[in-house]
Amino acid sequence: MLRGNDLISVRDLEKADIEQLLKRAEDMDRTLGAGRTLDILKEKIVATLFFEPSTRTKMSFQTAAKRLGAQILNFTSMESSSMKKGETLADTLRMVDGYADLLIMRHAAEGAARYAAEVCKHPLINAGDGGNQHPTQTLLDLFTIRKMKGKIQGLSVYLVGDLKYARTMRSLLYGLGMFGAEITLVAPAGLEMDPKMVEEVKEKFGTSVTQKTALNLSGADVAYVCRVQKERFADPYEAEKVQKSFRITMDALKGVKDDLAILHPLPKIDEMDPQIDATKYARYFEQAKLGVPMRMAIIAEIMGE
Ligand code: NCD
Repeated sequence: MLRGNDLISVRDLEKADIEQLLKRAEDMDRTLGAGRTLDILKEKIVATLFFEPSTRTKMSFQTAAKRLGAQILNFTSMESSSMKKGETLADTLRMVDGYADLLIMRHAAEGAARYAAEVCKHPLINAGDGGNQHPTQTLLDLFTIRKMKGKIQGLSVYLVGDLKYARTMRSLLYGLGMFGAEITLVAPAGLEMDPKMVEEVKEKFGTSVTQKTALNLSGADVAYVCRVQKERFADPYEAEKVQKSFRITMDALKGVKDDLAILHPLPKIDEMDPQIDATKYARYFEQAKLGVPMRMAIIAEIMGE
């Protein structure tokens, strides 16, 4: 049960919780598709605090809250807040907790969301904490895959890109494992997934995880790509070097399954040839749009409406 609880990591969720969210997101998607919105959160205020850059996550959360009838309280920037004067994160959060009914936070530090949830009385949703977790992205990814493919169980899903620093990948590996996908990991040298995470899904869910160095997408039903997370490298020069060498070209699409879906949490930078956008495989803008019904479902479930 999500009601009244924080959402910090995918590990906070049982499979039944995710099933419930997927079902609720379908209802929300139908509502939006029919041009309708809801007013179940008319009396509520949802605060968004993004201490790291964001386009989709912040805007889709705000859209979701508005389409449920809630009001948005937005923390615009550190520069324009009292944090600039030296106010601590904890004090800032205590204030916002006094104003809003639900907090949605992104922060560059791993563990910041768990810490924030301890400081706040109201439920808090982690919209990304450093390279650690991004649970709501995983929920919308699972929703997207199930909507596009009709199932998750038994699908061959390739996770391609910076698997070391991308929080989207860490969360998704767990979510896909829980739902029985077969996973192939393809990362540039040095950016492989933490072996502990791989062990965890193998042990917990009996997931088949294959690691490859060369990119051959011929067996994939879904290829989930992410950018090199430059901001998380100790040495920006290293990041630029990998950024230059890691790129999915049109050639990589030769011999792929006819219904391959390429997904991406976005933003995409240099890791994909922009020509791929025009192919039938590119499904990431649809994916981004599905963030709204899934985030409506998440907010509604947590607020107990
Ligand atoms: C991702 C993130 O912030 O982790 N973006 C998103 O939320 N859609 C991916 C990224 O920044 O690469």
